[in-house]
Amino acid sequence: MAKIKKIYICSNCGENSPKWAGKCTACGEWETFQEEIIAKGDKREEKKKVYRASSQKKDAPTPVILPEIKAGNTQRIIAPDQELNRVLGGGIVSGSIVLIGGQPGIGKSTLLLQLAIKLPNRILYVSGEESEEQIKMRADRVGEPASECYILTETGVDKILNHADKLTPELIIIDSIQTLVSPFIESAPGSISQVRECANELQRYAKETGIPVFLIGHINKDGAIAGPKLLEHLVDVVLQFEGDRNYTYRILRTVKNRFGSTNELGIYEMQADGLREVPNPSEILLSQHDDVLSGSAIAATLEGLRPMLIEIQALVSTAVYGTPQRSSTGFDLRRLSMLLAVLEKRCGIHFGANDVFLNIVGGIKSDDPAMDLSVVAALISSLEDVGIPNRVCFAGEVGLSGEIRSVNRIEKRIQEADRLGFEQIYISKYNTKGINIDEYNIEVQTIGKVDELFEALFQ
Ligand code: TYD
Ligand code: MG
Repeated sequence: MAKIKKIYICSNCGENSPKWAGKCTACGEWETFQEEIIAKGDKREEKKKVYRASSQKKDAPTPVILPEIKAGNTQRIIAPDQELNRVLGGGIVSGSIVLIGGQPGIGKSTLLLQLAIKLPNRILYVSGEESEEQIKMRADRVGEPASECYILTETGVDKILNHADKLTPELIIIDSIQTLVSPFIESAPGSISQVRECANELQRYAKETGIPVFLIGHINKDGAIAGPKLLEHLVDVVLQFEGDRNYTYRILRTVKNRFGSTNELGIYEMQADGLREVPNPSEILLSQHDDVLSGSAIAATLEGLRPMLIEIQALVSTAVYGTPQRSSTGFDLRRLSMLLAVLEKRCGIHFGANDVFLNIVGGIKSDDPAMDLSVVAALISSLEDVGIPNRVCFAGEVGLSGEIRSVNRIEKRIQEADRLGFEQIYISKYNTKGINIDEYNIEVQTIGKVDELFEALFQ
């Protein structure tokens, strides 16, 4: 009989300790230690012996001098989904482990089932969360299976790998890592040691066989992938699927990528028949109204490396109660307060007794500093109740002394605005180095201070 042993593991960094402690000695986080039960003795010892034996096999790896390693071109499966290829850095690398995190209901299962259905390769889709019928119903919604897509509803990691051995799929999808259990660990599914053990097991399998594995991971309320950070260290690629559930747009962001850039971004739209790729985000994110409305301004932003034009809406109204409200959706509230303070102090525009509401259209969140200028324009436009002409957009950061600062990749922003038929773009006057503003059809207006924007637009 295996002896039961309790240990405490830090949910932030994975440090373990035989005693509970309020503060983790390794990462300094408070209240992160969680109780875990591990089996000591029989099973672990047996397993260790097996590993020892396998490491003495003839084909076990030995040290190789770097110049002698052949670079061989990495094999990649090119997905039928261009947005996914983009975030993965050009396709699914063989033997890689990709973790997709996201809030419940955002569309993780839909994204990967759709991939499984559309890829012409043999695929093993393992679900510990839904029954075969549920998956079938979803699959019917998203399209005709063109592939050999096998569905397995199983949670034991050893059994899954046995099936994989027999089936020899070209891709394994696990929905989700938190439901898997390893027989070598006694704690409940989803606990730190289970998640870590199962992920380790799958990683070893992927590296040995060259079969890429996709893992779906739930995220906790702070937005981190539940389970220790360790999971993120272990996998090759971490993707974050995000969006507002009340809107249809979803963004797939690269958080970590051992095979490509982390600046990439995929955009999807959730429809009744699954996720649709959105190759041209600006065209749908701009609302289609022809009349000039006050309080609305267009920002030429950059998400990752993708230029996008998005609409900012502001509403400034007289406060009914004593303390005026400040509310913002998709834009950092502290940044909004800072911009209001700059407008008060540097331009003498007072918002003191007004409620201020700010919204980025389409449920998009952005922390691009270049949005500042459009936020300021939207705020003044709403306060003065004067609309900004339709075909005008903005890209600039606002500094504390009211100066307009330059932003990165300005040519890309100008080009995108130009391509979409905008007539004017306001940028910082310090941002014109290395670009020829005459080569575009769009008129590039350069300004140095917030007051100049006020004069140019509202006087
Ligand atoms: P799901 O993939 O189950 O989310 P996750 O695995 O991240 O928890 O997505 C669920 C949501 O997507 C659900 O609320 C319904 C919606 N949906 C559509 O709008 N259209 C579709 O074709 C599908 C399959 C789901
Ligand atoms: Mg799911």
